[in-house]
Amino acid sequence: MPTRRVILLGATGSIGRQAVDVISRFPDRFEVVGAVARRDAAGLGALVERLGVGRAALVAPDPDADVPTGWGVGLEAACEIAALPADVVCVAITGAAALRPTLAALDAGTTVATATKEVLVMAGEVVRARARRSGSRILPIDSEHSALWQCLRGEDPASVTRLILTASGGAFRDRDPATLADATPEEALRHPTWNMGPKVTIDCATMMNKGLEVIEAHFLFEIDYPRIDVLIHPSSVVHSLVEFHDGATKAQIGAPDMRVPIALALADGERLPGVAAPADLAALSPLAFRPVDPLRFPALGVARRAGERGGVVPAILNAANEVCVSAFLRGACRFDQITDLVGEAVEAAPAVAGPSLDDVLDADAWARRRVTEALALPAGAAVSGPGGGAGAA
Ligand SMILES: NC(=O)c1ccc[n+]([C@@H]2O[C@H](COP(=O)([O-])OP(=O)(O)OC[C@H]3O[C@@H](n4cnc5c(N)ncnc54)[C@H](OP(=O)(O)O)[C@@H]3O)[C@@H](O)[C@H]2O)c1
Repeated sequence: MPTRRVILLGATGSIGRQAVDVISRFPDRFEVVGAVARRDAAGLGALVERLGVGRAALVAPDPDADVPTGWGVGLEAACEIAALPADVVCVAITGAAALRPTLAALDAGTTVATATKEVLVMAGEVVRARARRSGSRILPIDSEHSALWQCLRGEDPASVTRLILTASGGAFRDRDPATLADATPEEALRHPTWNMGPKVTIDCATMMNKGLEVIEAHFLFEIDYPRIDVLIHPSSVVHSLVEFHDGATKAQIGAPDMRVPIALALADGERLPGVAAPADLAALSPLAFRPVDPLRFPALGVARRAGERGGVVPAILNAANEVCVSAFLRGACRFDQITDLVGEAVEAAPAVAGPSLDDVLDADAWARRRVTEALALPAGAAVSGPGGGAGAA
């Protein structure tokens, strides 16, 4: 098998480090030709040295950081690396900041393996149009979407009746909802099954993560919203399911280990040996499922409404959520305010059919301003948008 040239965007994060782990175990299969982080010069430097990476960039290094000679700095440098000749670009930059590098990779005609659901949520139509234009493909890394991809392989799309995303329920799955207003970042960051970066972990606690994933699934698999459902599955062993019109349901099962979907996407769907130990089903039984309680997790309904309204509304959902989560992590927003403020922004969102990239960027900026003002955050304190730069979360 030929070596696959990989570019890692968000190389120093939770997904990025697990991608490095996979790549290090298959040195004859992968070569990292470019790597990007935000400001973690030491982390990026270590992996550049370890894997002999050709090109590296920091999007927003600290002002006093010692950036090695030859590294790029800023968003444009990140986009240049994303557009280098490669077989796959692994997108694992948190949030809307991943949009422009993802578009650069797609425009270059490179396959994009994305963990960053926010890009498809905010700009699904634009992203899909760019991919169609250049003939590039988008492969999922998110475990649920990787599971759906695996279940759908070899199946006739016309036979699919329903996609079912599973949700762990996050840190507050069993906590009294009446106490959630006072929930602290430390409590919300205690995810019961996955060890992930802070933004996605807070999204799991609100269940906004699953809402973003419903929209991500809509764009990845081109399926309408009424046929995408969510079930709570506390042990995160069944990663998602597909129902077919003959009454069959396929599920993808595995221990919660992101290296499996990462390896599958980087290898373009080929299963590499020994990536993770198989799930011990006897030890993990019984496997439980239950419907989502909309009163405990209103964020799922908010996201679904945003997806169904379409246009720029999902971009507004995403941007409002990014600002709220960042503020919550810094103690500037209560936990229950996250969904309230995002819901208000979604309700106030303008209708824009067939949005252009500029429409999406305007909507993103509008939502960031709106929530920044609502929380009375100091100007410049909100997490960075698709323009890049330093973000708080
Ligand atoms: N972690 C998981 O298991 C998991 C599972 C499914 C999906 N995801 C998705 O994967 C994405 C990444 O999540 P994560 O948990 O890996 O996040 P993370 O641990 O916070 O890492 C984020 C990475 O992105 C970089 N980054 C952050 N802001 C940036 C910016 N403005 N410009 C350029 N680079 C930036 C960070 O660089 P620095 O280190 O220099 O700050 C870091 O390399 C998210 O969209 C998340 O929803 C994650």
